[in-house]
Amino acid sequence: MSDLRLSGVRYELTRTLLHDLDLTFAAGRMTALSGPSGSGKTTLLSIAGGLLRPTAGEATYAGAPMWRGTGDPRPEVSFVLQVYGLVPILSARENVSVALRARGVDPDEADERAAQALARFHIADLADRQVEELSGGQMQRVALARGLCVEAGVLLADEPTSELDEGNRGLVLAELRREADRGAVVVVATHDPAVVDACDDHHALDEGRLVDHTEPVHLPVTRSYPDPGNGSTGGSPVTPSHDTPSDPAPVVEQGGAPATSGRRDHPAETSDPVRSDLDQPGDDDPYELFRRPPGSP
Ligand SMILES: Nc1ncnc2c1ncn2[C@@H]1O[C@H](COP(=O)(O)OP(=O)(O)OP(=O)(O)O)[C@@H](O)[C@H]1O
Ligand SMILES: [Mg+2]
Repeated sequence: MSDLRLSGVRYELTRTLLHDLDLTFAAGRMTALSGPSGSGKTTLLSIAGGLLRPTAGEATYAGAPMWRGTGDPRPEVSFVLQVYGLVPILSARENVSVALRARGVDPDEADERAAQALARFHIADLADRQVEELSGGQMQRVALARGLCVEAGVLLADEPTSELDEGNRGLVLAELRREADRGAVVVVATHDPAVVDACDDHHALDEGRLVDHTEPVHLPVTRSYPDPGNGSTGGSPVTPSHDTPSDPAPVVEQGGAPATSGRRDHPAETSDPVRSDLDQPGDDDPYELFRRPPGSP
């Protein structure tokens, strides 16, 4: 088991998007990466997984650099992308199977493992459906099946629950926990306080910098989304719009981590990762925490 390390990682385009970050994502643990829209989560995951070359510093896994000169990630890395990256005209099973075939798995075995991976996310019945016919929440779970089926050493999941109802979010968190339990580095970019709470470690970004999130904060109620009726898809997406550089950064403080290093002081639950004790009558805005100005109670 190896950790994933970022040392002095800086990323500049027309302005600096990441400022000299030093971070370790530990093997065998789930790490949440939170922060407002535009704070740099996707950029950081892209550098951590070898899709982008940092302007300075480096990301390493098992002592070797993640950037290989091409933008192709190392085989130890698997992504669940924020925009899913699925092929619309292929079936759900084919979209998953292709990831296994790309790693040299025999086609028949790849198809079988793809079907098993879809079943992990309760969408086995959708295996033969073309992805373009699926709902957003169903696509998100196909992307998760594809990301998890390859049993990578490093799993980087970018807002993997943004389209899911509470039940499916719990399912996904339990599956991510299984990945960590077999020794993988699991990093989850998220806006959802309940996802942060289910992780072992937490780092918060604001405008490309790590921010202090050491104050204990009470996590607000989690919102559930109505199932439109087929029992397998979520409702309203909560993915925020992508900020332009001129957008004001709405938030700094992030929820849930009482420990100073960003390491949480309780193990995340595996059977029911979404804590029911977070529910507070009358507190119906789970994202209020993310909009609270720095320093407010
Ligand atoms: N190719 C690019 N050129 C210029 N700016 C970019 C580019 N890609 C990202 N950015 C900017 O970099 C910043 C960080 O973007 P990033 O996608 O990493 O944020 P994020 O935290 O993942 O946001 P979200 O929560 O909306 O997904 C944003 O201000 C974005 O506009
Ligand atoms: Mg993003």
